[in-house]
Order: sequence, then C-alpha cells, then structure tokens
Amino acid sequence: MGATFEAIPTSPDVPIPAGTYPDVEALVPHCQRCQRCRLGATRTHAAVHRGNPTARLMLIGEGPGELEDRQGRPFVGPAGQLLDRILAAVDLDPARDVFICNVVKCRPPGNRVPEPDEVAACLPYLEEQIRLVDPAVFVFLGATALRACTGEARGITRLRGQWLTHRGRPAMAVFHPSYLLRNPARTPGSPKWLMWQDIRAVRAQLDALAAQPDR
Ligand code: URA
Repeated sequence: MGATFEAIPTSPDVPIPAGTYPDVEALVPHCQRCQRCRLGATRTHAAVHRGNPTARLMLIGEGPGELEDRQGRPFVGPAGQLLDRILAAVDLDPARDVFICNVVKCRPPGNRVPEPDEVAACLPYLEEQIRLVDPAVFVFLGATALRACTGEARGITRLRGQWLTHRGRPAMAVFHPSYLLRNPARTPGSPKWLMWQDIRAVRAQLDALAAQPDR
C-alpha cells in the first residue's frame, strides 16, 4: 500500500484507485502537491478535511475560499463559523461528531464555482475520503456538492430537506452556509428557517440510526 501511494503521480490522467490511501491524513501531503487540474497552479494550500475521521456524519461542501486556502482547512472562514454554530445548535461538536470536506480541495480563483473538469479531477480524493470515513449519514452543503456526488440536476431549492440515498446511506442536501450568510432573515419559510428544520432532521436521523444495534 505504501509503495503504491508514493508512486502515484498527480497528473489528471493517472487514476487514483480505491484503496490507495491508508487513512485520511495520507491524502493531505498528496493533495498539497496535486496538479491534476488548473487549481493546483493558483492555490496556496489545499484544504483537505477537518473534523473526526471516525465521525458518523460527513459534510461535503463545494470548495475552499480565501481563508481556507490560507489555512489549509475547509470551512474556517465566515461560512464555516456559521456552519459550526448550526451544528452546535443540535449538539453536534464539529471536532468530534462530523467529518468536513469539499468536492474540490483547492480554491477556485475568486471563489467561482468549480468547473466540471476540476470536479472530475478531484473526485477520486473525495471517493477515498468517503471510503475511509464510511459515514452513516451524508449532508451535501449546496448544489455543487449535491450535483458532484449524485449527478442530480435538480436544484437545491427543490431537493433540500429530502432524504436521498447515497452509497446506501441516508443523505440530505441543505443550503450552503454562504447562501445563508447572504440571506440572514429567520422568518418562517426563509432559507435560515429551512436550514433549522433540515439540521434537526439530520440530528434525528443520527439518533435513530444510533438506536439500531448495528449502526
Ligand atoms: N465554502 C465551501 O464550500 N467550502 C469551504 O471550505 C469554505 C466555503
């Protein structure tokens, strides 16, 4: 395993087979050197993951912003701080109860949406993170994560809050925290109000699975 891992170059046409990485930390130095897509030329640091690799809940976002690029961790900027408050509201500790990562590990310049070829080049890293964390529940933060993971073309407004199945596990798409920062109202039916419903449903799902003997 070690030899295979060391031997893999980071060019876009070289596949990353399932089982390449022994643990999630092993992806980090590889992503920091990665040149599988054009984002490798402009990043400062790849932001690969944060949280607990044995968590039962995996949150998948779009891609790093400016602060994430500087610090090399996903969701450490304003959107991440809001995300942490949302999780805390249902008693989920971001360091203990969740594993957080992104569809693309390197910042798209100007925080643009990642291009389909950038998503495709980076997807093997996400596949490995999913294999290694093996979460009980997925949450897709925003439309890019929903589309990249499921191929779902319908929008987030239509699908948020519904239980989907991803890799045989319950999965829910929710609004991206950046969208909530741009829409701060908390009136009934507002994006923030809907997020509150959704995160409570995620919490309830985790509790229900924990009550089953084999999950
Ligand atoms: N938005 C994302 O999708 N991911 C981050 O890491 C930060 C902001």
